[in-house]
Amino acid sequence: MTVKREIVFATNNAHKLSEIREIMGEEWHVLSLSDIGCDVDIPETADTLQGNAEIKARFIKEHYGYDCFADDTGLMVDSLGGAPGVYSARYAGSNHDSVANMNLLLENMKGKKNRKAHFSTVIALIIGDTVRFFEGRVDGVITESPTGNGGFGYDPIFMPEECEVTFALMSAEEKNSISHRGRATAKLIEYLSQI
Ligand code: IMP
Repeated sequence: MTVKREIVFATNNAHKLSEIREIMGEEWHVLSLSDIGCDVDIPETADTLQGNAEIKARFIKEHYGYDCFADDTGLMVDSLGGAPGVYSARYAGSNHDSVANMNLLLENMKGKKNRKAHFSTVIALIIGDTVRFFEGRVDGVITESPTGNGGFGYDPIFMPEECEVTFALMSAEEKNSISHRGRATAKLIEYLSQI
């Protein structure tokens, strides 16, 4: 029987948790915020992905004592000067409404020929006193309209390069193998497997 290693992932997002648990596999017992009794909505006050990831990881380490990792992701659209970027979750307002965010993005891209965009994820890992960062990126384009029901967030309007469908039409396994979070997590796991 494999002995599972325990680590907190500073999130309660069910999609992200199941994605990360699938990527990290049998060896890891990934605890969520609710698993450790944390119901605080940790404020993300930095203006960079790295800054926000670090804030969340430090909060858990300081208040709950667990080794932990936290991620922050943004969708950067070239023709919008990198928006929504670090504000991707609240692009259309503070209520984290994915459909409203997508609609606003499509509206703001009306008439734009350059539809290039990328997702970027930064993971901050705190083990003991040390913080390390792992980054993953996937390039692609914003489609003209949403397609697919899978995934979450901007998945129905993001088509990764060299693919013919949006993230929302891929299986979790397909998406994880090329996604920003999948790539950042692969680096995290490679590091964790060596320590
Ligand atoms: P978070 O930092 O992972 O919470 O991501 C911030 C926002 O980016 C989310 O609220 C989503 O709108 C969007 N986002 C993050 N990851 C993905 C993804 O894999 N697909 C689509 N949208 C995402």
